[in-house]
Amino acid sequence: MHTPIPVTPDVFWIGMNDRETSLFEGLWPLPRGVCYNSYLIRDEKVAVVDTVKHCGPEIYLDKIRRLLAEGDRCIDYLIINHMEPDHSGSIRLLRDIFPGLQIIGNRQTARFLQDFYGITENIRVIKDGDSLDLGRHKLTFHMTPMVHWPETMMTYDTVDKILFSGDAFGGFGALTGGLFDDEVDVDFFEGEILRYFSNIVGKYSPMVQKAIAKLAGLDIGIICPTHGPVWRQSPQTIVQLYDRWSRHESEEGVVLVYASMYGNTEKMMESVAAGLSEEDLSRIRIHNVSQSHVSYILRDAWQFRGLVLGSPTYDLGLYPLMHNLISLLERKQLRKRVLGLFGTFGWSGGGVKTLTAFAEEGEWDVVTPIVEARCSPSEQDLQQCRLLGQNMVRRIKANGQD
Ligand code: FEO
Repeated sequence: MHTPIPVTPDVFWIGMNDRETSLFEGLWPLPRGVCYNSYLIRDEKVAVVDTVKHCGPEIYLDKIRRLLAEGDRCIDYLIINHMEPDHSGSIRLLRDIFPGLQIIGNRQTARFLQDFYGITENIRVIKDGDSLDLGRHKLTFHMTPMVHWPETMMTYDTVDKILFSGDAFGGFGALTGGLFDDEVDVDFFEGEILRYFSNIVGKYSPMVQKAIAKLAGLDIGIICPTHGPVWRQSPQTIVQLYDRWSRHESEEGVVLVYASMYGNTEKMMESVAAGLSEEDLSRIRIHNVSQSHVSYILRDAWQFRGLVLGSPTYDLGLYPLMHNLISLLERKQLRKRVLGLFGTFGWSGGGVKTLTAFAEEGEWDVVTPIVEARCSPSEQDLQQCRLLGQNMVRRIKANGQD
């Protein structure tokens, strides 16, 4: 994907695949890479919408130069929908090569431009609803703050009916040759988009809901996000997915996450799993918190209605990796889930106590029994775990939203 790809006759994808970065934001695994989408609109005036992470400047510039070659053009406008450096990382590069380009952004964008890159000149500060004429194309700007930063906005091409949506409607995964939803394996991308949503955007679900409501009046034919495929065949698919996820809607299934040092808490997990299965539940995802990256656990927790956490006690408290998980669950503010708890202790307790405090502080629908075993679970403890699994399934079926 080293050449520009036309989205419409005047609008081109000029983005970059990144298969080198192993952790997005230094946190989230990228086993299948990620892409940074940037777009160029070639009209009487030339506009670029968002840039790319500063990771392949020659390839990026080559795409732009190819499009500008006819007529010896320059970039007139650089529209910045989002300032996180995975998209703003090449602003300085473009400003150096095209010194006359005017940067278009809102008041918050201008602040970030100064603070990240020391750029203060030739910035046009726009407000919600403002527009920009490129000749044939007329663009309008729509403020969508906190999807995912305070300056985030979207740009709408009123002629080609394209929404340049920034992070919204995007996901992990480098492009696999094709650019459009009708050219790629949508099932694969849906998994990576949900992982991106749960890891990055989910915390801001109320703002996603506001943005979706605000965009309802636009006639959107194509969605061009800054990550993942361009949605031209079925833009409503990705809007509906983001809508569901940001409403915290869920599917019938249970995510069972456990930690175990010597196999005792794992024994309890197996009994919980057996109890889940006995109630005819097949969609069960089991994660050993020491082996599954939390990125995937968050994804599954966002997908399924039930969550069961099991942990030993460690240093008088919760097992550290389980502590990391509950801290992220609190931070991401996942809602409308049924929660089950179990665990072990040797002498002091602390694991289940911390999990119970976590459950009480959040908005969880807690299912009983909460099972705590001393050292190694007895037969009675294992029966209780089985009952926990059975009760979990009864509750998630009763709370069904599918
Ligand atoms: Fe893809 Fe919030 O940056």
